[in-house]
Amino acid sequence: MKRYVLAIDGPAGSGKSTVSKLVAKKLDGFVYLDTGAMYRMITYKCLENNIQVEEIEKIKKILEETNFDIKEDKFFLDNKDVSFDIRTKEVTSNVSKYAAVKIIREKLVDIQRKISEGKKIVIDGRDIGTVVFPDAELKIFLVASPEERANRRVKDYESKGIKADYNETLKEIIKRDKLDSEREESPLKKAEDAIELDTSKLTIDEVVEKILSYMKI
Ligand code: DC
Repeated sequence: MKRYVLAIDGPAGSGKSTVSKLVAKKLDGFVYLDTGAMYRMITYKCLENNIQVEEIEKIKKILEETNFDIKEDKFFLDNKDVSFDIRTKEVTSNVSKYAAVKIIREKLVDIQRKISEGKKIVIDGRDIGTVVFPDAELKIFLVASPEERANRRVKDYESKGIKADYNETLKEIIKRDKLDSEREESPLKKAEDAIELDTSKLTIDEVVEKILSYMKI
């Protein structure tokens, strides 16, 4: 089987995970990897253990000892299902800080490359087209206005039974964009050879169809 990496990057709320999941489902033999969930897993573990971003030695130990396991859309830390715990507001508002730590990125990028080896895979994140797979077969960079992304996040939270305030969510999104795109280590950035797609005025199905039309397989 020939490898095929479809890299989908973009800011929080641009529709990456919804779209990536659907694209993978529509394609024969493709799997989907949500790399944001991996940064959320390590953030959750550090918060649980009261480990701050500055405590590099402790983070190193956690990275060495922790077993990250992903089974379809379920996420396991040392065999504990943390799929719900990694989506809380606490993790969401802290994840950008931990995702900026060099040793965390090195370890997770390593795992992401191993998981993808020889596979047909749709992989979403912030640095997939620039760092993890600069040689990806196709790179998409999704964008949308902060207001539209905040709207989507509020709806998303509500569908999970979590209350969310629009203004607070918008502020959070703008703050996270800034942290993700201004950090030193692998900032959120469109790869030169990525196709940029503004999803503000498109339905999910329209975005999926556009991406499928760009794939030459
Ligand atoms: O996509 P998400 O909201 O679940 O991502 C959570 C955080 O992880 C986000 O603030 C940026 C970071 N992230 C990253 O730095 N690199 C990736 N490849 C994926 C996510």
